[in-house]
Amino acid sequence: MDSDLANYRVHGPTPIGWDPATLPNEVVDDEGTPLRKKGFGEPDPRTPARRVPDDPGVEALREHLRANNGIRGLEICMPDEVERAARIYRRDGFVVVRDALDEQHLALFREGCARRLREILAYPGRDGRKYMAETGRLPHRYCYGTTSGSRQMMHDPAWTSMIDLPTTTPILAEIFTTDDYLVWGGGGDLSLPGAIEYQHLHTDGVDAQPAGDDAERRLAYFRRQGGDADPVNSFADLDFRTQRLVMDRTPTGVTINFTMTDLTWENGPIREIPGTQTATQPPPVPEEEPEWMRLSTLVGAPAGSAIFRDVRTWHGATPNLSREIRALPSIEYSAGWRGGSGSQKTMPYEIWETLSPHAQRICRFIRQEPGVWPYGAGVMHPLTSGRRAAYEQDAGGKGEVTSVRTDPRSAGTAIRLFNRDHDGGY
Ligand SMILES: [Fe+2]
Repeated sequence: MDSDLANYRVHGPTPIGWDPATLPNEVVDDEGTPLRKKGFGEPDPRTPARRVPDDPGVEALREHLRANNGIRGLEICMPDEVERAARIYRRDGFVVVRDALDEQHLALFREGCARRLREILAYPGRDGRKYMAETGRLPHRYCYGTTSGSRQMMHDPAWTSMIDLPTTTPILAEIFTTDDYLVWGGGGDLSLPGAIEYQHLHTDGVDAQPAGDDAERRLAYFRRQGGDADPVNSFADLDFRTQRLVMDRTPTGVTINFTMTDLTWENGPIREIPGTQTATQPPPVPEEEPEWMRLSTLVGAPAGSAIFRDVRTWHGATPNLSREIRALPSIEYSAGWRGGSGSQKTMPYEIWETLSPHAQRICRFIRQEPGVWPYGAGVMHPLTSGRRAAYEQDAGGKGEVTSVRTDPRSAGTAIRLFNRDHDGGY
């Protein structure tokens, strides 16, 4: 193996990335063939012309970001500021909490991220390109969840050790107004140095109008937050504004991204558009995204922070013009009222057994049966064709995997694999 690939870490300077042979906005298909065609992926129309650190376009963007990048007055909470964190979260659709990971957990997560990235980057690119890109994603960007053959990282203790932390669990319980929430999975986005394009703004989940028991449960959670809906009313009795407020205040899901590095103006900090967790319109397409949104990033979040994100909030990745990998591994939680339907069994029973009682409870729907390895887990592959092969080999006739072209304005990629487990439904 190339010594660059054998030794790098996911924090500090690295020789990884900055491959000039990988053209701007280039995207590969299921099999790894580079394409630059309209309607496949979401290109950044303002990207620099070359993937080179001292390209004039890169230098100009770097100077612009140095002067302007980051939300002014970004509030950063301490882990014991539980109510303040929840208040900011409900207002903005996200909140940064520093010192969420102690030294030991940060080291464990960094080691896991470097190890898994090494597996992803082990596949060489075509025609002199340094790396095989991830199917449907912009160059030098990968996601631990979508490159995993099982679609999640719940088979890796580096991820599962972060599910129930003394710094994050109280804030999750405050946001969900109960400790009866669920784990959906975990993965997380990363960018290599030289990811010069902006990822398009998108949401990770669209909130459908609730009905029946789901609506009543959401109303009950809203009332626990001190919501002033008249307690004799059912959801259907409420006026439109109050129904919307109930939906706004009861997120379908919360994702925590953990920072492996300080987020700086230069290394591709995530951008979050405050208040958009309540938006029913789609985010602007790249051509129409105003500059203030491109600069609405979480610069200043130190390494070891937890970024709590309402999955509905408009967000996207930004250019990494540094020499440092920017990894944001995640744990994804869903509201308890959603129940287990749609959960995929991606966590080995043997890992589930080692978790805290609370983590065991909230992971009960993603736990595989004793002695059955979660289908596809353990294979990291940038291409959907490689992940499909790994999944099908494990699942045999007991599961299937479907390649889905997602709406690029809502989800993060053009093509994803969705595992449809016959036992768990979908
Ligand atoms: Fe996303």
